[in-house]
Amino acid sequence: MIQLTVNGQRYSLDIDDDTPLLWAVRDAIGLKGSKFGCGAGLCGACTMHLNGQPIRSCITPVSTAVDNEVTTIEGITPAEGLSPVQQAWVELNVPQCGYCQSGQIMSATALLASNPAPSDAEIDQAMSGNLCRCGTYPRIRAAIHKASA
Ligand code: FES
Repeated sequence: MIQLTVNGQRYSLDIDDDTPLLWAVRDAIGLKGSKFGCGAGLCGACTMHLNGQPIRSCITPVSTAVDNEVTTIEGITPAEGLSPVQQAWVELNVPQCGYCQSGQIMSATALLASNPAPSDAEIDQAMSGNLCRCGTYPRIRAAIHKASA
Protein backbone atom coordinates (compact mmCIF):
# COMPACT_ATOMS: atom_id res chain seq x y z
CA MET A 1 0.00 0.00 0.00
CA ILE A 2 1.22 3.48 -0.89
CA GLN A 3 0.16 6.35 1.37
CA LEU A 4 -0.07 9.53 -0.63
CA THR A 5 -1.12 13.08 0.21
CA VAL A 6 -2.56 14.87 -2.81
CA ASN A 7 -4.07 18.35 -2.52
CA GLY A 8 -4.14 17.94 1.24
CA GLN A 9 -6.06 14.67 1.17
CA ARG A 10 -4.63 11.31 2.25
CA TYR A 11 -4.98 8.28 -0.01
CA SER A 12 -4.07 4.60 0.48
CA LEU A 13 -3.35 3.15 -2.94
CA ASP A 14 -2.82 -0.48 -3.86
CA ILE A 15 -0.16 0.17 -6.52
CA ASP A 16 3.51 -0.65 -7.11
CA ASP A 17 6.23 1.63 -5.70
CA ASP A 18 7.57 2.38 -9.15
CA THR A 19 4.24 3.40 -10.67
CA PRO A 20 4.66 6.88 -12.16
CA LEU A 21 3.05 9.51 -9.96
CA LEU A 22 1.03 10.66 -12.98
CA TRP A 23 -0.78 7.34 -13.20
CA ALA A 24 -1.26 7.11 -9.45
CA VAL A 25 -3.00 10.47 -9.55
CA ARG A 26 -4.93 10.00 -12.80
CA ASP A 27 -5.91 6.34 -12.60
CA ALA A 28 -5.79 5.32 -8.94
CA ILE A 29 -7.13 8.60 -7.52
CA GLY A 30 -9.06 9.82 -10.55
CA LEU A 31 -7.80 13.39 -10.85
CA LYS A 32 -7.52 13.89 -14.61
CA GLY A 33 -6.25 17.48 -14.83
CA SER A 34 -2.59 16.45 -15.19
CA LYS A 35 -1.93 15.30 -18.74
CA PHE A 36 0.20 12.63 -20.38
CA GLY A 37 2.25 14.00 -23.25
CA CYS A 38 5.61 12.37 -23.86
CA GLY A 39 6.01 10.09 -20.86
CA ALA A 40 9.73 10.85 -20.86
CA GLY A 41 10.05 14.06 -18.86
CA LEU A 42 10.44 16.21 -21.94
CA CYS A 43 7.20 18.14 -22.50
CA GLY A 44 5.86 19.26 -19.12
CA ALA A 45 2.22 18.32 -19.74
CA CYS A 46 2.25 16.20 -16.58
CA THR A 47 3.66 18.92 -14.28
CA MET A 48 2.57 18.75 -10.65
CA HIS A 49 4.12 20.23 -7.51
CA LEU A 50 6.04 18.16 -4.98
CA ASN A 51 6.40 20.30 -1.87
CA GLY A 52 5.76 23.34 -4.03
CA GLN A 53 8.38 22.53 -6.66
CA PRO A 54 7.31 21.68 -10.22
CA ILE A 55 8.08 18.08 -11.17
CA ARG A 56 7.49 15.82 -14.16
CA SER A 57 5.06 13.31 -12.71
CA CYS A 58 5.41 10.92 -15.67
CA ILE A 59 8.98 10.06 -14.64
CA THR A 60 8.55 10.41 -10.86
CA PRO A 61 7.95 7.08 -9.09
CA VAL A 62 5.03 7.34 -6.71
CA SER A 63 7.33 6.17 -3.90
CA THR A 64 9.19 9.52 -4.20
CA ALA A 65 6.02 11.32 -3.21
CA VAL A 66 5.37 9.35 -0.01
CA ASP A 67 5.68 11.66 3.04
CA ASN A 68 5.62 14.68 0.72
CA GLU A 69 2.89 17.04 -0.45
CA VAL A 70 1.65 16.54 -3.99
CA THR A 71 -0.37 19.35 -5.55
CA THR A 72 -2.16 19.09 -8.87
CA ILE A 73 -4.05 21.60 -11.00
CA GLU A 74 -7.18 20.62 -9.05
CA GLY A 75 -5.41 21.59 -5.84
CA ILE A 76 -4.58 25.12 -6.91
CA THR A 77 -8.13 25.79 -8.14
CA PRO A 78 -10.25 27.52 -5.48
CA ALA A 79 -13.66 26.07 -4.64
CA GLU A 80 -15.14 29.26 -6.08
CA GLY A 81 -13.58 31.00 -9.08
CA LEU A 82 -10.01 30.72 -10.30
CA SER A 83 -6.49 31.23 -8.99
CA PRO A 84 -4.79 34.49 -10.06
CA VAL A 85 -2.76 32.56 -12.65
CA GLN A 86 -5.84 30.81 -14.01
CA GLN A 87 -7.69 34.14 -14.13
CA ALA A 88 -4.88 35.72 -16.16
CA TRP A 89 -4.91 32.70 -18.50
CA VAL A 90 -8.64 33.22 -19.14
CA GLU A 91 -8.42 36.98 -19.57
CA LEU A 92 -5.63 36.69 -22.15
CA ASN A 93 -7.15 33.66 -23.92
CA VAL A 94 -3.89 31.78 -23.54
CA PRO A 95 -4.90 28.23 -24.63
CA GLN A 96 -5.34 27.12 -28.19
CA CYS A 97 -5.89 23.36 -28.10
CA GLY A 98 -5.36 23.50 -24.32
CA TYR A 99 -3.71 20.13 -23.80
CA CYS A 100 -0.46 21.42 -22.30
CA GLN A 101 -2.01 24.24 -20.30
CA SER A 102 -2.48 22.41 -17.00
CA GLY A 103 1.26 21.82 -16.91
CA GLN A 104 1.96 25.38 -18.05
CA ILE A 105 -0.19 26.78 -15.25
CA MET A 106 1.48 24.56 -12.65
CA SER A 107 4.94 25.73 -13.72
CA ALA A 108 3.80 29.36 -13.81
CA THR A 109 2.25 29.05 -10.35
CA ALA A 110 5.47 27.63 -8.92
CA LEU A 111 7.50 30.38 -10.60
CA LEU A 112 5.34 33.16 -9.15
CA ALA A 113 5.43 31.59 -5.69
CA SER A 114 9.22 31.85 -5.66
CA ASN A 115 9.56 35.00 -7.79
CA PRO A 116 6.50 37.30 -7.63
CA ALA A 117 7.71 39.62 -10.42
CA PRO A 118 9.80 37.63 -12.90
CA SER A 119 11.52 39.21 -15.91
CA ASP A 120 10.94 37.93 -19.45
CA ALA A 121 14.21 36.02 -19.22
CA GLU A 122 13.26 34.47 -15.88
CA ILE A 123 9.88 33.47 -17.28
CA ASP A 124 11.44 31.92 -20.36
CA GLN A 125 13.92 29.99 -18.25
CA ALA A 126 11.35 28.75 -15.75
CA MET A 127 8.91 27.75 -18.50
CA SER A 128 11.47 26.23 -20.88
CA GLY A 129 10.52 22.68 -19.89
CA ASN A 130 6.87 23.18 -20.83
CA LEU A 131 6.30 22.72 -24.54
CA CYS A 132 3.27 23.98 -26.48
CA ARG A 133 2.73 22.64 -29.99
CA CYS A 134 0.31 25.51 -30.68
CA GLY A 135 2.97 28.10 -29.89
CA THR A 136 1.10 30.00 -27.19
CA TYR A 137 4.36 31.13 -25.61
CA PRO A 138 3.83 34.91 -26.09
CA ARG A 139 0.43 34.70 -24.38
CA ILE A 140 1.84 32.51 -21.60
CA ARG A 141 4.53 35.09 -20.93
CA ALA A 142 1.97 37.93 -20.96
CA ALA A 143 -0.35 36.03 -18.61
CA ILE A 144 2.46 35.43 -16.13
CA HIS A 145 3.20 39.16 -16.14
CA LYS A 146 -0.50 39.88 -15.66
CA ALA A 147 -0.78 37.45 -12.75
CA SER A 148 2.28 39.01 -11.16
CA ALA A 149 0.91 42.56 -11.39
FE1 FES B 1 5.64 14.10 -18.49
FE2 FES B 1 5.83 14.91 -21.05
S1 FES B 1 4.25 13.71 -20.11
S2 FES B 1 7.07 15.48 -19.34
